[in-house]
Amino acid sequence: MTQESLFDKPTGTLREEHQVILRVINVLGRLVERSEQGRGFERNALGECVEFFRSFADACHHAKEEDLLFPLLQARGIPRDGGPIGVMLSEHQLARGFTKDMAGALEAYDREESNARDRFHSAARDYRELLTHHISKEDQILFTMGDQVMSEEDQSSLCKQFCGLCSKQFGGRTREELERMADTLEANWPA
Ligand SMILES: [Fe+2]
Ligand SMILES: [Fe+2]
Repeated sequence: MTQESLFDKPTGTLREEHQVILRVINVLGRLVERSEQGRGFERNALGECVEFFRSFADACHHAKEEDLLFPLLQARGIPRDGGPIGVMLSEHQLARGFTKDMAGALEAYDREESNARDRFHSAARDYRELLTHHISKEDQILFTMGDQVMSEEDQSSLCKQFCGLCSKQFGGRTREELERMADTLEANWPA
């Protein structure tokens, strides 16, 4: 298989998006570590990470999986309940909860509530841990299974549907703007 054909696959697009999400998860980790070491709670950068997770990881990426990929994989015989798709769906729900918890902690910080930083650190740790494992399971297990059960026709029709979804806005931003947001966060808070 050529490199080009790998990225023509719909799972190739999702794998690439995983890498963008992981880059921002790593920025989040560095910002939390910085805060825990008493080197400052970077409210604005943390807010941008949360906005990125809500708009890119959830509205753009998880939506492609939930609305387009997973129903097709189910139709091709990969079980939902008691199988990998059901696990992935429940993890998306947990990720939404942790994102909400991070946003809530930032609002509490703005109200100068004393435990706001700890609440944020805890929700951020939970999100990081969950999404890192979730992405690894999709990359290594579910997408590999998916590539085996989807026909070429399935793959090209899914690619077209992905393109349709990607031309929308997510939280008022395009997919390209959100990718640039990830680049800027990484440049401002390098490893
Ligand atoms: Fe997922
Ligand atoms: Fe994913």
